[in-house]
Amino acid sequence: MAVLSSIGLSKRFAGHSANDPSVLALSSVNFTINHNEFCSVLGHSGCGKTTLLTMVAGFEQPTEGELLLDGKPIGKPGWERSMIFQDYALFHWLTVEENISFGLEMKNVPRDERKSVVKEYINLVGLSGFDRRYPHQLSGGMRQRVSIARALAVNPQILLMDEPFAALDAQNRSLMQKEMVRIWERARKTCLLVTHSIDEAITLSDRILVMTRRPGTIKADIKVELPRPRQEDDPGVILLRRQIKELIIDEFEVER
Ligand SMILES: Nc1ncnc2c1ncn2[C@@H]1O[C@H](COP(=O)(O)OP(=O)(O)OP(=O)(O)O)[C@@H](O)[C@H]1O
Ligand SMILES: [Mg+2]
Repeated sequence: MAVLSSIGLSKRFAGHSANDPSVLALSSVNFTINHNEFCSVLGHSGCGKTTLLTMVAGFEQPTEGELLLDGKPIGKPGWERSMIFQDYALFHWLTVEENISFGLEMKNVPRDERKSVVKEYINLVGLSGFDRRYPHQLSGGMRQRVSIARALAVNPQILLMDEPFAALDAQNRSLMQKEMVRIWERARKTCLLVTHSIDEAITLSDRILVMTRRPGTIKADIKVELPRPRQEDDPGVILLRRQIKELIIDEFEVER
């Protein structure tokens, strides 16, 4: 069942003057994401990946076409669409548990329920014992775990992630990708992840959408049926990596 549908979606940003023309960021983007599917969007810098995510989040409105969540047009930002940012976007004056509890308080979840939900998600992301720490007392990977817990705790219909691990060093990034697979297998959410990394997309996804250069449109919609956890030297993974690389290199060729 489709949770998210993008139908003929286009986005043009207005220019500010004659010397600053408008920018067509996305053009006729069509795809659907099914219930509990993990879908990644891959594409070159500037092809409109963040623009797509901000429209799903409700921060920006489409110029043409529509975005439907459970068959209904997406409006303003709402709890049913949680976003995880690259820079964690945690409240630095709140502890780990207070950060995770924040959205629940805003949703008027009763205190006892809040406490048990916060505990559940602190455990899920592997941060037990760090409940009372502040973000500055945590490593980058731990901060990203807090933002994952915070995003999941409000029980969204879809989890949106914009290069969530890009600020981490290579080792931590690879660890967090594995952790994301574990968390996703337990929490089972519909996810839409934007990334530059082919390997990240292969590690995590049921589906990979490869975009063209700007104006971005969907160039390939690839179903990934390899069993998890996926090993980088698995023949299926090697083949898929090569296939996606070719699609992306082709876009460079178009650009030249
Ligand atoms: N608010 C805005 N106003 C005007 N132009 C914008 C705005 N946001 C994005 N753009 C333009 O839209 C295009 C797509 O930008 P976007 O940030 O979506 O790309 P991206 O694929 O996320 O790139 P990256 O991989 O570098 O993050 C770019 O040309 C960008 O300059
Ligand atoms: Mg971006």
